[in-house]
Amino acid sequence: MRRHQALMPLSDDHHQALVQARQLSLAGTAEASLSPTETAAAFLRFWTEAGEEHFRLEEEVLLPAYQRHIRSLAESGPHPICALPTPVMQVLVEHVYIRGLAAELADSFPDRTSLDLLHALGSALHDHIRLEERAVFPLIEQSLPEAVLAGLAGRLKSPSYLARRSESKPKDAGTLMPGISHERTYVVEPQHTAVAVHSGGITGLSTPTLLAWMESVAFELAEDRLPPGQSTVGVAVNLQHVAPTPVGAEVRVRATLTGIEGDGRRLNFSIEASDHMELIGKAEHQRFVIDRDRFDRRLARKSR
Ligand SMILES: [Fe+2]
Ligand SMILES: [Fe+2]
Repeated sequence: MRRHQALMPLSDDHHQALVQARQLSLAGTAEASLSPTETAAAFLRFWTEAGEEHFRLEEEVLLPAYQRHIRSLAESGPHPICALPTPVMQVLVEHVYIRGLAAELADSFPDRTSLDLLHALGSALHDHIRLEERAVFPLIEQSLPEAVLAGLAGRLKSPSYLARRSESKPKDAGTLMPGISHERTYVVEPQHTAVAVHSGGITGLSTPTLLAWMESVAFELAEDRLPPGQSTVGVAVNLQHVAPTPVGAEVRVRATLTGIEGDGRRLNFSIEASDHMELIGKAEHQRFVIDRDRFDRRLARKSR
């Protein structure tokens, strides 16, 4: 399911956090690309720049909006805090636990940092993101009225999210020109496998998921540079999925704008995806620039 626009900055933070969680879980093993000390240092930097603020936004903005909605529904009966569903309560408890582990890591770094602590933090962070992405965010998206969700948009962007967005833009951001590119790292999870999406019988990354990630990176590259009122839709793709990737692996996806045709309306992208060992996929992709109002009117005509 596609994330609501208001929650996308938090989901974007989750992508970054999943990369950290994987590094923490692999610390000290043969698969680790960083030493345990480098892993701990990378996490502490991420925690200070993004994690703490992310937790604060969830605790002070997102969950209070949900709680307020629950309260508005519960005019009688037990105290409305009792109406908070278990996964929402669990988010708060896990925040306390993860904050505790992060503080322990900061205190012990670098001389007394144990692998056990790194692994505990990695697993707690991974499970926490899964809980939010699979249970809590969908619950919030389904329960909150659109007007409330729309009111949250813009209030859930941490300074580190905004910094990442501006860093990912070249100096001439605002113009679409051949040669600009954008990159994002994903982690393969069980729901991304061919078995899970019913596109095949293997338990590695599915081609539909790889395509969705590729489209998403190309979409973001264009979206940041289009004027308000315009967006893009995917119209063509030639994808080659050339190597398998297991659950738990990171996949880096990079899209480059290679050409602009048809009065600036047709955008051609070349996209490559690699895991930690090799190139796993490449695609030629075309997107069409649309005017949102006209497009929405066309959609509405078919909805009748
Ligand atoms: Fe959280
Ligand atoms: Fe979160």
